[in-house]
Amino acid sequence: MKEIDQLLLSNRAWAAEMLHENPEFFQRNVNLQRPAFLWIGCSDSRVAPDQMTQALPGGLFVHRNIANLVYPTDRNLMAVLHYAVNVLEIAHVVICGHYGCGGIQAALDGTVEGPIADWLDHAYQVLNDHRAEIEALPPGEERVNRLVEVNVRDQLLHLAGTEPVQSAFAAGKPLTLHGWVYDLRDGHIKPLMRIDADTVLAELPQPERVLL
Ligand code: CO
Repeated sequence: MKEIDQLLLSNRAWAAEMLHENPEFFQRNVNLQRPAFLWIGCSDSRVAPDQMTQALPGGLFVHRNIANLVYPTDRNLMAVLHYAVNVLEIAHVVICGHYGCGGIQAALDGTVEGPIADWLDHAYQVLNDHRAEIEALPPGEERVNRLVEVNVRDQLLHLAGTEPVQSAFAAGKPLTLHGWVYDLRDGHIKPLMRIDADTVLAELPQPERVLL
């Protein structure tokens, strides 16, 4: 059987299983979504937000891109963010990076060209802003993984500065931004930091190093 056919077959098996567990499941999802979380993560196939958090369909509103970068000029992400905050009234936005991120590795190596290099502009910026700390570490995994952590921090700051988030903060809406990192080696998500309306962005500290 072709690999692609396996996807369709697995989908039918999944739908049957869901229906067996809860005959109302799909009907309930048809007319309404009320997710409590917006997830902004890396496109990496090994980092699967729904499975990692055991979220069911309807649980997570999701945006993914290479290296979980936040550009206020990214129409895709800004539309997702606007809809999440203003229409769905989501109270928690998560940016989740992951150790061993190929995008962050590429930014560190500086070897990619073309569309990926263009996309990674913010990641290069993070590296430039934290170069002294990163280069004080042994080359290889340690540098990549620390850059993953500070990238989450800096993207969280970009996110905090966007119009939908600033407006929600100003209006007193209950909105919290969370910076997390996922460890491919043990499947654990580790919280790094959070931002809410009371956070003074100029005083946001570096996250603790959580990777041993
Ligand atoms: Co990645």
